[in-house]
Amino acid sequence: MESVLVHNIGELVTNDATLERGLLGVLTDAAVLINDGVVVEVGSSSALAATPVDRRIDAGGAAVLPGFVESHSHLVFAGDRSAEFAARMAGEPYAAGGIRTTLAATRAASDRELAANVARLAEEYARQGTTTVECKSGYGQTVDDEHRSLHAAATGTDEVTLLAAHVCPPEFDGRIDDYVAYVVDKMVPQCAQDARWIDVFCERGAFDVDQSRTVLQAGARAGLGVRVHGNQLSHSGGVQLAVELGAASVDHVCHTDDADHEALAASDTVATVLPGADFSTRNRYPDARRMIDAGVTVAIGADCNPGTSYTTSLPFCIALAVRELRMTVDEAVWGATAGGAQALQRSDVGVLRPGNRADLIMLGAPSHTHLAYRPGVPLIRTVVRSGRPLSE
Ligand code: NIG
Ligand code: FE
Repeated sequence: MESVLVHNIGELVTNDATLERGLLGVLTDAAVLINDGVVVEVGSSSALAATPVDRRIDAGGAAVLPGFVESHSHLVFAGDRSAEFAARMAGEPYAAGGIRTTLAATRAASDRELAANVARLAEEYARQGTTTVECKSGYGQTVDDEHRSLHAAATGTDEVTLLAAHVCPPEFDGRIDDYVAYVVDKMVPQCAQDARWIDVFCERGAFDVDQSRTVLQAGARAGLGVRVHGNQLSHSGGVQLAVELGAASVDHVCHTDDADHEALAASDTVATVLPGADFSTRNRYPDARRMIDAGVTVAIGADCNPGTSYTTSLPFCIALAVRELRMTVDEAVWGATAGGAQALQRSDVGVLRPGNRADLIMLGAPSHTHLAYRPGVPLIRTVVRSGRPLSE
């Protein structure tokens, strides 16, 4: 039982709506009292200063905010696709088929290699302020390879997703419905116990709406929560499918219309934008401004994966969301913290309030605005996860 006081915080983003201090619940001259990895009290620094604790962390007047919550990543992979990226920057379009390159390398990799890749990227996420990470399988697409991918994901991340239908594997070429049947009859029953979520890539070149629905319903029957890759490269129908199935989140959402926004706004489904993927594929950015104005809840993820978005930087994605998606700074910071938590249906992270996990980041800057105002600058000075500074 260690008690910790983080004090002398110039600006504290809590995301606590009950404080009635704007979207981010901002307090000034604040402190956070932590016991045994959990937030006990959030209040004024001078009022909490005399509290006897085991350890004090002086924020030196800087900004502190909840750790980022990444709700979309693909860290279980092997191989390298930098040549594909270079070709794309020289004018080649992105296509879902590129996933097959990683599929072959991942199938050939050992369990140790896959776990090491997850550890390496989870560490990268953490150093950049991310304290909760969701991770998908999806580069195996056989029962055995998905199974070991889920195990590798669980070694280094917090939320594990069975991406059962990411791309039709080569052995099912021309028989995509047979692959869907294989997922439903074999993969979901044998893998569901090792995941919390089921996901599909509902897209041209991947799985259509009916195939996606079949896979997601099988996952839901097996007790998994639903997430969808939807409307990334085309108006694929993934958004409407996600709403129909009560998905926790539909991710990418680059090709949407007003009917999609209305359906999302009337639902509990979060729209998760992944601007790093659009940046690295020269894809069109989601119309987050229009979505938020229509009443949609918008989260931000980095989508670290070897094909479309090889970044673990939520600060970079916040800067993109502000500059390119026309989100306000507050909306973007909320989206990468409380929004990510909402996309994962987690109430214990993303918000600094009593009872929640003590995950916070201290910036080398006086306000959260600097995350977007100083793009590309390493502003994360200290990361605290469950009450412990990261380096320990
Ligand atoms: O989130 N869109 C589908 N899946 C990944 C990309 C996978 C890949 O190209 O390897 C994404 O963008
Ligand atoms: Fe993805």
